[in-house]
Parts: sequence; C-alpha cells; structure tokens
Amino acid sequence: MTVVSAPGKVYLFGEHAVVYGEPAVPCAIERRATVTVEPRDDSHVRVEAQDLTLDGFAVEYADSPDDRPDVDVPKPLLDAATGYVDAAVEQAREAADAPDAGFDISVDSEIPLGAGLGSSAAVVVAGIDAATRALGEPLDRRELADRAYRAEYDVQDGQASRADTFCSTMGGAVRVEGDDCTRLDTPELPFVVGFDGGAGDTGQLVAGVRSLRDRYEFAADTVEAIGDIVREGESLLADADPDSDPSAELIGELGELMDINHGLLSALGVSSRSLDTMVWAAREAGADGAKLTGAGGGGCIVALDATDETETSLQYTTDCEQAFRAELATEGVRLEE
Ligand code: PMV
Repeated sequence: MTVVSAPGKVYLFGEHAVVYGEPAVPCAIERRATVTVEPRDDSHVRVEAQDLTLDGFAVEYADSPDDRPDVDVPKPLLDAATGYVDAAVEQAREAADAPDAGFDISVDSEIPLGAGLGSSAAVVVAGIDAATRALGEPLDRRELADRAYRAEYDVQDGQASRADTFCSTMGGAVRVEGDDCTRLDTPELPFVVGFDGGAGDTGQLVAGVRSLRDRYEFAADTVEAIGDIVREGESLLADADPDSDPSAELIGELGELMDINHGLLSALGVSSRSLDTMVWAAREAGADGAKLTGAGGGGCIVALDATDETETSLQYTTDCEQAFRAELATEGVRLEE
C-alpha cells in the first residue's frame, strides 16, 4: 500500500490571467488530499472517495472509465470526482510503461471539490505519485508536476495553467508564467479562507473570460492589469525577509493589491453574490485585503488578517459555510506510508 498526500492552494494573485500568459502567485496551504494506492492482479481500477462528493462512492471498472457501472451519484459529480483520478492513472501507466496496470485507489480529501482551493490538482499530484511509486517507478518532482499538468489539461479540455499542479507538487509560494515555474521564498502570510459551500465550473468560467477578452479590448486590458498586480505583488514579496514575520506594512500593501485583483476578477464576471458578500464581510472585519481564489463562480475567498476578527466574522456571515485559517504548506507532495 502506498499513501501520498499533496496540498491544496489559494491564489494570492493572478488566477484567470495566468491562462493567457500573465504571471500568477499561488500559495500551497495545509489542507491535503491523501491518495492510497494498491496495485491489483488485473487491469481494473477501483476508486473509492468518501468525501469528494456528499455521500461518498466506490466504483470499479475494467480497462476504460467508459465501462464504469452505474452508481448512486449524479453523473456530473461522479465524472468530476473520478475524471481526475482516471487521468492520474493514465499518466502513471504511461510513466511506468505499464499500460495494463490495475489499482485499488482510495481518496481522502480535506479540500472541497471545485471551490478554488486546488482539490483536483492535489488529487492528481498525489495520485500519480502514489501510483508510480506503487509500480516501483517513482518520478522526480519536475516530471511529476509536468504529468499532473497534462492530466488536468486533458480533463479540462485544454483550459488549464501549470499553476495549481506545480504549486501542489512543490509546496510553498510559487510563481507561474506560461511554462516557467519557480518557487518563491516568502514569509508566512496570515491567510483566512471563507467557503460558501458551493463550487464553480472552471471550464465555463475560463470560457466566459476568454469570450470577453476576445470581444472587448478593455477586457483584454483588464487581464493585463491583473498581470501588473502580480508583478507589483512579487516585488513586494522579493523585498521581504522570508525568515521573519511579515511587517504590517507588507500585509497592508499586499491586501490592497488583493482588493484590486478581486475588483478586476469581478469585472470579468467570475465573482458571485456569496463570494462578494464574504469579501466584504472580511474587509469590514478588518482584513487587510480579500479576494476570490481560483476559478470563482462560488467556492472560496482568501483574506489576509493577522488577528482572529476575520475568521470569527466570516463564521457569522450567512453566505459563509466554513471559515478557517490556512497555514502555508511549505512541503508539497509527500509520501505518508
Ligand atoms: O478553481 P481552481 O483552483 O481550479 O483554479 C482555476 C484557476 C484558473 O486560472 C481559472 C485556471 C487555471 O488552470 O489556471
């Protein structure tokens, strides 16, 4: 049995614009997806996930995911939950040159699905790593990140950047611009996450931004302006001492940039009433800045606040189902057992 975990992430800045070659800075957080893999004697794949969908499910199929029997989970949800596991299996089979390898796979995740915290990337990264290790062909981290990106790219019909998968593999704060991915040395930032209990459809939201950008020059300028925010934020982070607590001035300046970033994402149509409500609740509670994280449409916001005020206030906000402090996960993917 091979057990591997990988972290989720929040976007400090740059989601959506990263799809068009602008830089983005996602930060891994201590909420993990854990994937357990046991090779089988046949080529079947059995996937069990108790917390990716509301009631959990277990499904077994031979050879192709199209052979999947009916299970008592709505098809779109099952496809979303198993699609990434299937893609991870394909990448592991290819990497280990074992096209007929079968696996029993179980997924345990602390990261809500489709909520902007990178649950799919964490499942794919941990899944490929666990399956290749189980086959005796472990991958180095760069190849793992690359294969995880290809898996996401396939499932999302080409609408994916390297940001989530690279961040989940490496951990910490990272910078992604096109194919250029690096790790950043940053101080620990006081992230607070608010979750509305919902999810957004990443493919649809990315397509919506693409359409606006194609039709209006000012929408294309908005995407570029998000890139400018990221560059500004990066230079603030580069000047900070990674080994000390961040200064109040740094948090204030980063927060201001997050607020502008949220405004621009909202202008591009990817916020929602509940995300906006949580963003305003965080700001009114004294957060230094707040924005949606990930594709938007529903799911999570991230705020910066060194006090407990934002978390407490979000817990009493009607549109917020869950609020928690999110520590930076300095370790990316890791072998648990
Ligand atoms: O919602 P998430 O965590 O899957 O993030 C999506 C981020 C986008 O920039 C909208 C798409 C991408 O692949 O970078």
